[in-house]
Formats: sequence, structure tokens, C-alpha cells
Amino acid sequence: MTHKLAVLPGDGIGPDIVREACKVLETLRTNFGLDMAWEEAPVGGTAYDQSGHPLPEATLELARGADAVLLGAVGGPRWEALDYSVRPERALLALRKELDLFANLRPAKVFPELAGASALKPEVVAGIDIMVVRELTGGIYFGEPRGVEELPDGRRKGVNTLVYASDEIERIARVAFDIARKRSGRVCSIDKANVLESTELWREVVTDVGTREFPDVELSHMYVDNAAMQLVRAPGQFDVMVTTNMFGDILSDEASMLTGSIGLLPSASLNTEGAGMYEPIHGSAPDIAGTGKANPLATILSVGMMLRYSLDESELADRVERAVEKVLEDGLRTPDIAAEGEQAIGTAEMGDAVVAAL
Ligand code: NAI
Ligand code: MG
Repeated sequence: MTHKLAVLPGDGIGPDIVREACKVLETLRTNFGLDMAWEEAPVGGTAYDQSGHPLPEATLELARGADAVLLGAVGGPRWEALDYSVRPERALLALRKELDLFANLRPAKVFPELAGASALKPEVVAGIDIMVVRELTGGIYFGEPRGVEELPDGRRKGVNTLVYASDEIERIARVAFDIARKRSGRVCSIDKANVLESTELWREVVTDVGTREFPDVELSHMYVDNAAMQLVRAPGQFDVMVTTNMFGDILSDEASMLTGSIGLLPSASLNTEGAGMYEPIHGSAPDIAGTGKANPLATILSVGMMLRYSLDESELADRVERAVEKVLEDGLRTPDIAAEGEQAIGTAEMGDAVVAAL
């Protein structure tokens, strides 16, 4: 069966980095038998310029019909003054919602050659390879009631509500346990069950799913405040972390910064059918767009995640990851990861180097 891919380059460095990721996909097709076809469509500010909407109907249709979406980045100063309803960033939220992408996977891996780039001591971050699994379509970001209201006595009250139903917890727990099976076999679930009843339910349901369906996976629990502390004290203790939307938002940013390099970090957002959207965690970097300085590795590693989680091609995923490790071992660096005085190469040269390593 031919895998159908939607490629949405977007704005700023989006087209620069996606071009390199597509070189990798093409190489996998011609040399390694990857049966896929991809189609490109505009998204974000680029789409707004062409059609007056950041997520045109045709782009959404393409994404809906695809087994996986590869996205560059959206946004930039040119579109900042636009009304919120047509801002480029709206396209991302709409895609997540329309495709029901409830599971956000954010790996934080330290490549040995780059351990020195972390804000933490190299010996603390050496070998860390964490996968944060964040629930993306529920919790306090979506719960009702919400809003700001005026009280009779003139004071104002702001309300957001942390809500989780057991089925929402079950499906994200399954994603985390499944991933752990393919990794170290350990899951740490993060909650605040000592204070928040909804996360007491979270703990109960995650435990149930683990006991019934994944007895082979080792499950532990941690309160979120302790988890935030442990991530900087001893990050090596974590493998798969699963948590709520807001805790995951914060902890995944914290975990990613342990690695010290925004240009290297991929992400995946999945739905229950296993379709997903894959994108680097960084933005459109307008400051370096079109200069050939953008690091394409986060996007290439996003292709690796796509192969693993949506296309069921884990051997090819390993191959892509090994190729990236190889170019880093060979000392190839884009400016964002080059040490002072170290020679840097451009976006296209980095893409070509990965293709050669493949
Ligand atoms: P940013 O991630 O675009 O850039 C932050 C810094 O990191 C910049 O100095 C940039 O040059 C550098 N950087 C980012 N990616 C890089 C790469 N691949 N290689 C080398 N250097 C890289 O975040 P910023 O500046 O806050 O946002 C710029 C625009 O991107 C805004 O319009 C923002 O809304 C949008 N944005 C979009 C996201 C998305 O599409 N998922 C996520 C974050 C921001
Ligand atoms: Mg965030």
C-alpha cells in the first residue's frame, strides 16, 4: 500500500528545511523501497497571502486524506498585525483539532557530540533519551466552564477547568505504554494526585490500563513539581513520561532544553487511527529565513518519527536516525550547533550529508 503524505512547508525557514526532509524521503523511496507519494500544499502566512486563509480548505482536505503530514513552521513578522482569526498559528490549532491529534510526542535526546551545548553539566545530560507523551486535546486548555466574569460586588473572576474523562486518559496511556514497549519498557506518569481530583482519576486509570493491558511495562508515578525538579537534577532516570496537556506543555519544553539545541528536536502529534502530524519544535525563524543557515535535522528527524509512528517503517526510521548520528559524528555542523570557531555548513549541504550517510 502506498503511503500518502501531505507536505506543508509553511513560512520562513519552513520551505528551506522541508526541502531537505523531502530529499531524505526521496532517497528512501529510490534506494530503500519506501512506497510513498507526497503532495504539497500551502499553510500559514504563505497560504494567507495566496488565498486569504492560513488553512485553505484544499490543504485541510489533503491533510485529512493523508497517512501523515509533514509540516515546516508557520508565522512571522509579516503576518503579526493580522486579525487573530486569520493568523498563521491558527492553522496549527485547526489542524490538531480537525485531525483529532490527541497525543503529542516530544523526544529529548542528547547526541553525545553535542552534550557540551546543554545548559546542564555534560555528565548530567550524557545519554539522556526521554520521550514526553503529552495529552493534547483535553485538560485545562479545553475544559468548561472557562472565561472571565464580573461578580455582583464588582470583582472579576477568571476560570479554567481541568477536566479529564476516563476514555481520554485511557487512550493517551495506551500510546505511552506502546511506545515504552519499543524502548526501555518503563513509563513514568506525571500528575498532581495529592491536590487535584481529576489527576487522581488520571493516576487510577493509567494504573488500570497498565495492569490490564501492559503488565510487561514498568509503571511509576510522580508529582509534577517533583518531576520538574528531577528533570534538571537527574534526567537520566526518565524514559517515557506521560502527562496531561498543561503539565506536558511545560515539562516537554523543560526536557527539550536539556539538549540545548532547538534545531535538532522533532515532534509528532497522533490520532487514534495512527495518522499524525510531524514537525520540528522550533518556529519559522524569520531572522535566518532564506539565508541557508537553518538546521534541517529537526525536520529530518521528524521524518524519522513519521516512519516509526504512522508508516510502520521502524527499520527505515532507525536508518534515518543513524544517518543523523553519523553526520554529527563526522563533525558536520550548521551554525546553530557549531561551537565557537568551528566551521559550519549550510542547510542544503546538511541535507545532502544526511542523504550521503543514508
Ligand atoms: P523560532 O523557533 O522561530 O526561533 C527562535 C530562535 O531559534 C531564532 O534565533 C532562530 O533563528 C533559531 N532557530 C529556530 N529554528 C532553527 C533552525 N532549524 N536552525 C537554526 N536556528 C533555528 O521562535 P520565534 O523566533 O519565537 O518565532 C518566530 C516565528 O515562528 C513566530 O511567528 C512564531 O509565532 C512562529 N512559531 C511557529 C511555530 C510552529 O510553526 N510550530 C512554533 C514556534 C513559533
Ligand atoms: Mg509550549
